[in-house]
Amino acid sequence: MSDNVVVVDLGSRAYSIHVGQRLLDSLGTLLGDVAQSQKVLLVFDEAVESPWGKMMHKLLVKAGYEVATHVMAAGEAAKTVETATAIWSKLADGAFDRDSTIVALGGGVVGDVAGFAAAAYLRGIAFIQIPTTLLAMVDSSVGGKTGVNLPQGKNLVGAFWQPRMVLADIDFLGTLSERQRVSGLAEIIKYGVIRDAELFAFLEENIATLFEGLHSADLIHVIRRSVEIKADVVVADEREGGLRRILNFGHTIGHAIEAEQHYEGMTHGEAIAVGMVVASALGRIHHPDTWTEECHARLVALLEKAGLPTRFPAGMSAEALIERTSVDKKVRKGTLRWVLPVRIGEVVISRDVTIEQAREVLVGLGATAGASHAGV
Ligand SMILES: NC(=O)c1ccc[n+]([C@@H]2O[C@H](COP(=O)([O-])OP(=O)(O)OC[C@H]3O[C@@H](n4cnc5c(N)ncnc54)[C@H](O)[C@@H]3O)[C@@H](O)[C@H]2O)c1
Ligand SMILES: [Zn+2]
Repeated sequence: MSDNVVVVDLGSRAYSIHVGQRLLDSLGTLLGDVAQSQKVLLVFDEAVESPWGKMMHKLLVKAGYEVATHVMAAGEAAKTVETATAIWSKLADGAFDRDSTIVALGGGVVGDVAGFAAAAYLRGIAFIQIPTTLLAMVDSSVGGKTGVNLPQGKNLVGAFWQPRMVLADIDFLGTLSERQRVSGLAEIIKYGVIRDAELFAFLEENIATLFEGLHSADLIHVIRRSVEIKADVVVADEREGGLRRILNFGHTIGHAIEAEQHYEGMTHGEAIAVGMVVASALGRIHHPDTWTEECHARLVALLEKAGLPTRFPAGMSAEALIERTSVDKKVRKGTLRWVLPVRIGEVVISRDVTIEQAREVLVGLGATAGASHAGV
């Protein structure tokens, strides 16, 4: 077993993130350190059930836990209040009390909805995150944002509710599709740009072999660094008043692409890869002395090496994207905040990007020009 521990130091709500391999061998002991009672509700989705869910159920029973399971449908469409309600019903039917624990086994969808269910049941019970996608390992399982979607939009209902522990075991990635793995790499590249030039350089050397068996130490290293960066930022700004916004690098346009495609086109990682190239091109305009052509070229080359897109897919309208960004969560008091790179390892929040600059960059990266809309 290999196990690296990162502590998210939030005082009385501090928790450990274990990053490694074969962590499940010691699941019983690790869980024993944080669970208040033997009662556990294990939540996973249908796609994770046969590779991991059933096995995890057996492991927990063997470790002496009294385990109920809730199997939800796979995919973003299941991240709803109805799914949370089904979890609450299961908890109430099983007489789960305040000392019981929810174990969320899966990607960001399962983590977000099961975490939200934990935040609200009996005004809050313990939950553990066992992320099974790369994105969930490096992003959604850390930081305590939980929630569900409404028909009106994504993540509109939720709560800040920190897990008691996170177990990120790279063995899970063995059954994940290539496309989902590559999608997670986009967030890891993001951490390099926003906070860690060394991580960025390490990725330039090693990104192509990260998922080869012999390179598991490299994969653990980059996940661990990503988790450390996210944990640092979250500790400094748990509720996204300031610093936490830097995590949105590439997300202004990334979210707009996802919404334009009704969440059925690019994956989240693919969309933010293009979004990072947009932010990078804007960085060339606003910080040309430090965010040089070489920096821009290095970012584009790394994304390409990872297998991520760096231009817009055909038929994407620049005006529609700009309009979407104006209803993005990052708009405050009418001014759009962009996260712009200053140098590799450092970004700033900027309100200085004009619509004309954004439009020019979008069109330059393959979005279609069109008649401009008023009031954007
Ligand atoms: N809470 C946060 O801070 C935060 C941050 C980023 C993203 N998110 C949320 O995360 C969600 C996206 O998460 P995701 O990308 O993990 O998607 P996901 O949870 O939908 O997982 C992607 C697909 O992979 C399957 N899968 C998961 N693990 C697997 C494995 N080991 N083997 C085989 N298949 C597996 C899932 O069943 C699903 O079909 C979005 O809802 C997003 O809003 C939350
Ligand atoms: Zn993201």
